[in-house]
Amino acid sequence: MLITLVAGARPNFMKIAPIIRAIEKSSSNGSILRYRLVHTGQHYDKNMSGQFFDQLQIPTPHANLEVGSGTQAEQTAGILIAFEKELISNKPDMVIVVGDVTSTMACTIAAKKLCIPVAHVEAGIRSWDITMPEEINRMVTDSIADWFYTTTEEAGTNLRNTGIKPEKIVFVGNTMIDTLYANLHRLIKPQIWDDVQLSSGEYLVATLHRPSNVDDPQRLIQLLSILRDNTNGKPIIFPIHPRTAKMLSGTSFKADNIHFLEPLGYLEFVYLVKNSKGVITDSGGITEETTVLGIPCITLRDSTERPETVAIGTNELIGTNPTALLPALEKLFKGNWKSGDIPPLWDGHTSDRIVKHLELLSK
Ligand code: UD1
Repeated sequence: MLITLVAGARPNFMKIAPIIRAIEKSSSNGSILRYRLVHTGQHYDKNMSGQFFDQLQIPTPHANLEVGSGTQAEQTAGILIAFEKELISNKPDMVIVVGDVTSTMACTIAAKKLCIPVAHVEAGIRSWDITMPEEINRMVTDSIADWFYTTTEEAGTNLRNTGIKPEKIVFVGNTMIDTLYANLHRLIKPQIWDDVQLSSGEYLVATLHRPSNVDDPQRLIQLLSILRDNTNGKPIIFPIHPRTAKMLSGTSFKADNIHFLEPLGYLEFVYLVKNSKGVITDSGGITEETTVLGIPCITLRDSTERPETVAIGTNELIGTNPTALLPALEKLFKGNWKSGDIPPLWDGHTSDRIVKHLELLSK
């Protein structure tokens, strides 16, 4: 069975790496699973893409569609056209998409229009906020995919509530956490550690890239100013997403204790998170990693598609009003942050469960 595996943007790379390894293990043990890796090129920089392939030892893709940046429609259209050609030239028995980025949705549509079955890894999660492009990507993908690998029981419930047959839903856990566990022993201390003389538990990590937080420069500056002035003098390490960097470059914002860095590699970023006092973010994936690492996480969003990180884990949603940061930081510095647990099946063996299911399908 030939599987075309799709990767497009940064958060996809951590999710596909362990699936590839599990497929390789399965085929070396005699199964008929084979894969073809297709990179859509949605993210293309060394910083946003190349270094993840190197660090996570992901093989060079068999094809790169090189769609690059653009509006939502331009990216979607570019991927649809290029991925249809790819599928016609190298027809697989199944396409696997992961996550919720534009590549996930566009590749699902292209495959289904050619009547090729699609399996979605991380299916069924919902923020119920339709203003997020990712929510549209999730809903479209899940409305036409054939197989649904879920990270939580709740994601399965969401899918069943839209009429998906229970036998199409397989609760497997979280492949991003497979990657986390597989790499904990090989994390890399980043250069900034020595440059700023960081010590464990004595600094914060921040990342922001969602349009709701960064596209309005005034709001962005208000947020960063509150952060700068309320961390008890502790440094803040801020690997900066290109979208945020672009917005900030047009302003005169200054902060001696906020250290803006180019996007870090996976091994350096997780090293920083694991040793930090806490994380401030608007990412979804990072809330999963902080939950497993037991690190306090303040999320600047009104909703989350990963409610288990709040209900079970160490994450708290504080909304997008910058002033909400103040009480959250106070609570963190008073040592009053909740401690969390690890959600069921986030155990490092999710990709093995996915591949076991694929082996059954291939028989
Ligand atoms: C995308 C995902 C988002 C994910 C994020 C992680 C969608 C809808 N969104 O958002 O879910 O959390 O990736 O990064 O798919 N750029 C570069 N180099 C690159 C890629 C992008 O400089 O390699 C710049 C471009 O100027 C681009 C901007 O970053 O316009 C935004 O990239 P884009 O892929 O459009 O969306 P993200 O905001 O990264």
